Amino acid sequence: MNILMLASEAVPLAKTGGLADVVGTLPIELARLGHDVRLALPRYAGIEAAPVTLKKAPAVRVPWRGDQLEVGIETGALGGGAVPLTCIRYDPFFARPGLYGEDGRDYPDNLERFVLFCRAVMEACKQPGRPPDVLHAHDWQSALAVAYLKTLYRNDPAWVGTRALFTIHNIGYQGHFPVSAYDATGLPWSEYTPERLEYYGQVNLLKGGLVHADILNTVSPTYAREIQTAEFGYGLEGVLQVRKDRLFGVTNGIDYNVWNPATDSHLPARYSAADLSGKRECKRALQTEVKLPARDVPLVGMVSRLAFQKGIDLIVDILPRLLELDVQMVVLGSGDPSYQTLLAELSARHPDKLAVRLVFDERLAHRIEAGADLFLMPSRYEPCGLNQLYSLRYGTVPVVRKTGGLADTVVPYAPDVRLGAAATGFGFEKPEPEVLLSTLLLALRVYRDKEEWTGLMRRGMQQDFSCQRSARQYVELYQRALAL
Ligand code: ADP
Ligand code: GLC
Repeated sequence: MNILMLASEAVPLAKTGGLADVVGTLPIELARLGHDVRLALPRYAGIEAAPVTLKKAPAVRVPWRGDQLEVGIETGALGGGAVPLTCIRYDPFFARPGLYGEDGRDYPDNLERFVLFCRAVMEACKQPGRPPDVLHAHDWQSALAVAYLKTLYRNDPAWVGTRALFTIHNIGYQGHFPVSAYDATGLPWSEYTPERLEYYGQVNLLKGGLVHADILNTVSPTYAREIQTAEFGYGLEGVLQVRKDRLFGVTNGIDYNVWNPATDSHLPARYSAADLSGKRECKRALQTEVKLPARDVPLVGMVSRLAFQKGIDLIVDILPRLLELDVQMVVLGSGDPSYQTLLAELSARHPDKLAVRLVFDERLAHRIEAGADLFLMPSRYEPCGLNQLYSLRYGTVPVVRKTGGLADTVVPYAPDVRLGAAATGFGFEKPEPEVLLSTLLLALRVYRDKEEWTGLMRRGMQQDFSCQRSARQYVELYQRALAL
């Protein structure tokens, strides 16, 4: 198959969260399965530092507010040449310090930025005589490409027969903009209706993908069901209920070449399920790195965007009580300034127990996955989550809320089931501080039982959530779209 994928981030070029891991990995696996995949991304500032060489290609003219705009194109490849890359270069929009905003505030012209990205992809990735079989777009930033395919480009020979798959990584982010911005989309006003892109008097870019795609998916089966309910659908549950026959769940896979404690070059020592001794060294080194006493106490790790989604408020609530116990915690996160302040204050009060790093640091993320004993993810909702998958592979027992992909990937420990059960972590249901605290207390009690704990670690390390498996499931969805 000939697949054109577009997204707003992908490792190793640009990343704010799990979307980048998935989009940086999936096309390479699809290419390994024998498919022709091209990936299109915005050309952000700072991309120069990535281990990818970009070359200038002929510019394209993109329809823009009744006129045309010349947009730069740079090309390169991912996966050792396996996946050709098209980067859309328009510095007034993309050469900024952030991808979507700065200091917790979105850029006010995000609609224009991603309109231009999607429209430029439609122009730059035309291959005369060879329309892609599938256009695969991710999240609200790329959703307009699907809408363009089905409207403005419907009769364009360069796109004839192309089917669209749209992947929802997080329905909490929809791209809402005032109606005054709608003209910039270039779409006819007939698209601005409640059945299409209108949403309570605003433009909703995500809906462009939801209503126009041939097939929809989200990143776990449980989340695919959850988003059809008012509790999780963020107002779009009705739209998804209508399309439920076209909506699937594909649990994210991870790249075990990058996330593997037996080979990870970011770690001071390496280890495997067969020989766990290196993990102790990783823990000591992590304690030293984040300036916690290098003692034999349970060390709880967390790596997260600091957003409401992630249950940070629950953590802040229980931390004073948790830190009365003989435990340590290390948090790596960036995002909402109010959570940053709260965490920094708590850490100043408990410097021997709580280390907080309010930055984005890929290497430290690896060392926390390896050095911690437990990994905390009390998300209010979680479409899939990758950190619990990394934690499982690193023998760092996840403590999660049973929602979305967390419910699909972690088997919670039950106190009444003896050794040998299938448990790989700890789970709780109600998003309440007391429930989180009692789950952590249970985990800390089991931690003292070395045999039981090692069983949990080893079972987790043996789980297989590979990106090879998820890539095959995406191929099935592409085939389904082509068979329509
Ligand atoms: P989400 O995409 O909702 O943020 P995921 O669990 O799917 O959640 O993916 C998060 C990804 O971002 C993981 O690869 C994680 O290691 C990484 N990450 C999040 N915050 C940081 C940070 N402060 N520093 C380094 N990596 C981070
Ligand atoms: C989103 C979700 C996360 C998911 C990631 C990759 O950011 O919040 O749960 O793992 O996308 O699909």
